[in-house]
Amino acid sequence: MKRVKIRVFRYNPADGADARYDEFEVEAERWTTVLDALLYIKAHKDHSIALRYSCRMASCGSCGMVINGIPRLACYTKVYELGSDVITCRPLTNFPIIRDLATDFTAFFAKHKSMRPYIINDAVDRIDGREFLQKPEEVEKYLQFSYCIKCGLCYAACPTVATDKRFPGPQALAQMYRYLIDSRDMATDERLKVVDDRHGVWRCHFAGSCSMVCPKGVDPALGIQLLRAYLLGMSRDSKVVAELYRREK
Ligand code: SF4
Ligand code: FES
Repeated sequence: MKRVKIRVFRYNPADGADARYDEFEVEAERWTTVLDALLYIKAHKDHSIALRYSCRMASCGSCGMVINGIPRLACYTKVYELGSDVITCRPLTNFPIIRDLATDFTAFFAKHKSMRPYIINDAVDRIDGREFLQKPEEVEKYLQFSYCIKCGLCYAACPTVATDKRFPGPQALAQMYRYLIDSRDMATDERLKVVDDRHGVWRCHFAGSCSMVCPKGVDPALGIQLLRAYLLGMSRDSKVVAELYRREK
């Protein structure tokens, strides 16, 4: 067990006071997560701290915050793993602050919805509800992108989102690729029109920070490069483009 100092960002846009950090000392076991520490502080030291969480198991995507400078899930980040006796928690960048560590996901989800994140296929009615069959290699094309839990960490890490509010962001673009490449989806042209824009897929500067912070192993930067390749007619085979991308990295 060790004692650590947790610095918590405090800000309430409604009260007009300046933002500040409040500091709390807590004891952490090897298994204590940053979320555990924050909830201990909330229960025993200052119940007014605002934060969002639900599953406590890296599934719901609610507890994202910037921890020691990097967007992370608080429930998936152990105090010991941070290797520091001072842990600074602040709200996700690129999101408006509701209060303290709680941020507003309205724009993020609106961008996600604008990608029409579902299979579009008029034939569904014509096959009497039977399942569409897919080969393993067809599933492989989109599988990693389907692991996204919409935590917004990639969006917070993206320097392009920070400078262009119309840019959909890595999460939304990767989801666009996920549905575009799905063999059951029939809306290819419609989908490409949404992202083929100077504020769309072409705005990405390929910083790659989105993929560095994803807690689910999704590679949104790869999704964006694959979308571009699709638009350029380079290759409809994601494996070929993925290989080129890996060599670039
Ligand atoms: S791609 Fe990864 S980091 Fe981005 S929202 Fe999805 S799970 Fe979170
Ligand atoms: S509480 Fe659900 S992802 Fe952290």
